[in-house]
Amino acid sequence: MDGRDLVRRVRLVGSVRGLRTVRAAWRRRSADARALPPRGAERARVPGALVGAEPGPGGGVVRFARSELRIRVAVGGAVFWAWDGADPLPSYALAGEVPAADPRAVLEPDKDGGWQVVSERLTVVVSRTGAVELRTPGGVLLRRELPPRWWEPVGGGAVRWVQRSEVPADARFFGLGGRASGPRLRDGAYGLWNTDPGGRFGPGDDPLYLTMPVQVVVSDAGTHLAFHDNTWAGRVVVREGEEGAGSGHDRPGTCEVRMEGGPLRCWVVAGTPARVLRGWTALTGAPAVPPSWALGPQHARWGFGSEREVRRVVAGYRERGLPLSVLHLDIDHYDGHRVFTVDRGRFPSLPGLAKELREEGVRLVSIVDPAVKAAPGDAVFDAGVALGERGAYVRDARGRVVVGEVWPGACVYPDFTDPVVREWWGSLYGERLAQGFSGIWHDMNEPVSFAAFGDPSLPRSARHVLEGAGGDHREAHNVYGLAMARAGYEGLLRLRPEERPFLFSRSGWAGMQRYGGTWSGDVSTGWPGLRASLSLVLGLGLCGVPYSGPDVGGFDGFPSPELYLRWFQMGAYLPLFRTHSAIDAGRREPWEFGPEVLEHARSALVERERLHPYFVTLSHVARLSGAPYVRPVWWAAPGDRALRGCEDAFLLGDALLVAPVMKAGAERRVVRLPRGRWYDTVTGRAYEGPGPVVVDAPLSRIPVLARAGAVIPVRDADGELELEVWAPAPGRTGGGLVVRDPGDGWAEAEVERYVSRWEGERVVVERDGGEGAGAVGLPVRVRGVEG
Ligand code: GLC
Repeated sequence: MDGRDLVRRVRLVGSVRGLRTVRAAWRRRSADARALPPRGAERARVPGALVGAEPGPGGGVVRFARSELRIRVAVGGAVFWAWDGADPLPSYALAGEVPAADPRAVLEPDKDGGWQVVSERLTVVVSRTGAVELRTPGGVLLRRELPPRWWEPVGGGAVRWVQRSEVPADARFFGLGGRASGPRLRDGAYGLWNTDPGGRFGPGDDPLYLTMPVQVVVSDAGTHLAFHDNTWAGRVVVREGEEGAGSGHDRPGTCEVRMEGGPLRCWVVAGTPARVLRGWTALTGAPAVPPSWALGPQHARWGFGSEREVRRVVAGYRERGLPLSVLHLDIDHYDGHRVFTVDRGRFPSLPGLAKELREEGVRLVSIVDPAVKAAPGDAVFDAGVALGERGAYVRDARGRVVVGEVWPGACVYPDFTDPVVREWWGSLYGERLAQGFSGIWHDMNEPVSFAAFGDPSLPRSARHVLEGAGGDHREAHNVYGLAMARAGYEGLLRLRPEERPFLFSRSGWAGMQRYGGTWSGDVSTGWPGLRASLSLVLGLGLCGVPYSGPDVGGFDGFPSPELYLRWFQMGAYLPLFRTHSAIDAGRREPWEFGPEVLEHARSALVERERLHPYFVTLSHVARLSGAPYVRPVWWAAPGDRALRGCEDAFLLGDALLVAPVMKAGAERRVVRLPRGRWYDTVTGRAYEGPGPVVVDAPLSRIPVLARAGAVIPVRDADGELELEVWAPAPGRTGGGLVVRDPGDGWAEAEVERYVSRWEGERVVVERDGGEGAGAVGLPVRVRGVEG
């Protein structure tokens, strides 16, 4: 516990809830002390010498003296390998069936006495001691897994393991879910245990709410993603390599994955970043497409205390001509903070309010926390107790329902790893729909139990159904939020099948994108928080979860007008664009920071609305290809080493490069451009990449550059679809995709492809392929030819 942590805990203990959080922490500790005795003697094991091999579909099994390694290359190129006979299933991450084995991938002896599987995208080489190398078809090393080591408790129990890997000296690590200190994961230890940092976090806090053992590694040799499919608590230690380190030799980068239990099995997908994300989302599921209203500006606050307050805020937007698409209601609209209730005193007619707002084009979204107040007589609590044979709630090792401490007081926790519980919980969303809510915001689902000390979650010894397999919280903890998302998503689908659910969640795990998005939680108000919030969005996107965004302005405290504005300007280019703050924090409405900020925030909102068709396109592109809306600047140029360390800018789709202002007082900033020509979208001025350029960043806007040749769907002044086309560089061509909004149902989205080129003195845009090829049929506005 560091100093800051201590201060937070003391604050908590000193609060009204204080005593109860001390009690909850004691309860958790003593439950674990009883049920999870400290680890006794352990036996260490390594694979030992190679003793034989047996070909099988897509690869086969290589046997060692004390373990065996399965290798299976799937159609599409993903490689699965596992020790000790682990199967790809069951898995919380995989979307469904395991992809078929690639019949062309065959296990064969290699020249060094080991074995290898050669496939189209990767060659897997297994050494005589059990090291596994992944090489490109050209033979260049992408990753070397050293032989693993296991520790087996002599008296039985969870088997710990560690595996160290090496990557090329120039490689950079990304991912591991949402990390505040990235997006480039520098040397250090990263926890794998979804954690509420308790009130607020900054770049030094790790782990956070949504972790996953997914590494994305970028090097000259190529990009790959490695996923250790294991939900247990763990730790990843990253050390970047160094070229010409000692006496001119390269020191490889290393990465050590340490798990407290569970299988040692791994998927690797390699190729360009685009191919990697395509392969990854083919395995773990296509990202859900939010309804198009969820791509508009959103506003929230913990503490919109009444219908009157909600009306006042919405009117504030309307009267100032500020667009608003969604308003969120936090826990304060609940009756005594109890989930699936309404405080009728302060919100006498939610359905009426929802209807009225809807007519103004504003949807309501409701928070949903998993913990249910332990109160006999409460309808939800009672229904959970009566559910099925064992009830809905997580129990301890002695079979007693686990009681934690959350907003309503003493609470119990639905076991979302039980399909019966998921179905029951999903049906409860009918109450939310009846109140007029259009979407759902999952929170506190790490899951949280406030604790004066120790882990603010359930006892590790708590029991879970785990889809029938049974197990304890050590295995279920990290997928609690994911399974809750599944319950909510499937519930909404059953209740309102004609509409795509809108759901986002604070916690989650690999595969989260199937059900919805996420947001960055209680990011601290300050410039470091602004940075951390971009890190989270970028890292999650690379892990396959493309829809997210921060609490614009920061969750706690009072941002300066400048900080608020810069955050707002950045947020306008992130998928989830939402202002939000804590109950004791300052307001976050754009008019609360003076007339100048209001005007500039208005421009950001107007630009967001103008780009709405582009966001719609990106949401469908994400579903079809896995490519996140928000991408690191190296996305299309992973070979440009300087870009791998660039953490203060991002690409929005293929067309735009957004360079937020991340420090006070800046009026211009350096932007490191990828190769090619880029236009400042406001001045039209052209810059040539690759390399750094200095661009203007007045308070009125953050720099946004358009790639030469880009075709971007936008709204014109009348709200109609128009193509904004940025002149290709001389002698070059360009293009872009357009997906017209198919509505909020399930109509198949059609992808239109446009190309741009010079024809003499004119820039020409044409529809490429498909029906209507050649004819554009849309108004076109060419930019970048001003000079
Ligand atoms: C958590 C959430 C925050 C929410 C608050 C009250 O701290 O992260 O967004 O406002 O709980 O529900």
